[in-house]
Amino acid sequence: MCASDTGPLVIDGETFGVKGRLGSGHYGSVLLGESARHGSVAVKLGVDLTHEAAVLRSLGTAAGFAPAIYHAQSDAIVMELLGPSVQTLWETTTSMTFFSGPTVLRLGRGMMRCLRALHEAGWAHNDVKPANFLRGASGSELHLIDFGLASRIGAGDRAVGEVGTPLFASFAGQTGSRPTRGVDDLESLVYCLTFLASGGLPWERKSHARTAFMKGRMLTDEGCELLTDSCAASGLTDDIPSPQLVEALQAVWAEVVACQEGQRINYEACLAALTDCGPADEV
Ligand SMILES: Nc1ncnc2c1ncn2[C@@H]1O[C@H](COP(=O)(O)OP(=O)(O)O)[C@@H](O)[C@H]1O
Ligand SMILES: [Mg+2]
Repeated sequence: MCASDTGPLVIDGETFGVKGRLGSGHYGSVLLGESARHGSVAVKLGVDLTHEAAVLRSLGTAAGFAPAIYHAQSDAIVMELLGPSVQTLWETTTSMTFFSGPTVLRLGRGMMRCLRALHEAGWAHNDVKPANFLRGASGSELHLIDFGLASRIGAGDRAVGEVGTPLFASFAGQTGSRPTRGVDDLESLVYCLTFLASGGLPWERKSHARTAFMKGRMLTDEGCELLTDSCAASGLTDDIPSPQLVEALQAVWAEVVACQEGQRINYEACLAALTDCGPADEV
């Protein structure tokens, strides 16, 4: 690949013009590129994308939930151009307040389907957050991106230190208490949906230790008669205006708690819990 991220890029022998920047983050930048062969594409550049490229290659071209990949190498990944992220949709359409219950349920189903497909392919994502779910270039189907922190489920890979974005990280991801699994992505999904439905999370602006304590207590709180009460005990769902959504999130949370020891996740039950409760906002 050529080193510049402003001039034309040559990746795997294919030349891409650079039309702009789509995003930037931990691992470098994502550019809007264009080539004669592939048209408009997203080009992720970074100093070490070896792991992400390997994950994407292992998912193969049939991975309908992830962007189609045209090139995947250690310093550049060229992929299908997707639309805005759920984070961007939330920021632009709600002025950073909250989505309606039906909208969160619809987004939740799309996000859950992406996670089910990734887990069935044998990977835990480990950085589930609204910025990593993107709409298609046309159409509202969600795609999952950013596999830089993904780990093989059951391989015993233990997270080194903190995994993912602290606000949305699972307890196991944040503390490194055990190797992460699919259920930890589901835990993060509940945090994402709570965030989108209320505009915040109870541990926002709290210390790392306090955040981990609050998440851990929700997963193990033996003082609660019903496991789902642990959400209420931590105030997780307090600020969600839609009672139907609170009920749905509690059902998914019950699955998160029930699967802590490695039990098989019942994705169908989770999807059923997230069924529509009315017309969704236009996002
Ligand atoms: N295929 C894509 N199409 C459109 N935008 C993308 C694409 N991939 C990434 N982006 C944009 O770039 C941002 C960062 O990409 P991501 O892979 O998550 O990088 P990082 O590892 O730095 O978080 C995303 O949140 C999104 O806004
Ligand atoms: Mg990302």
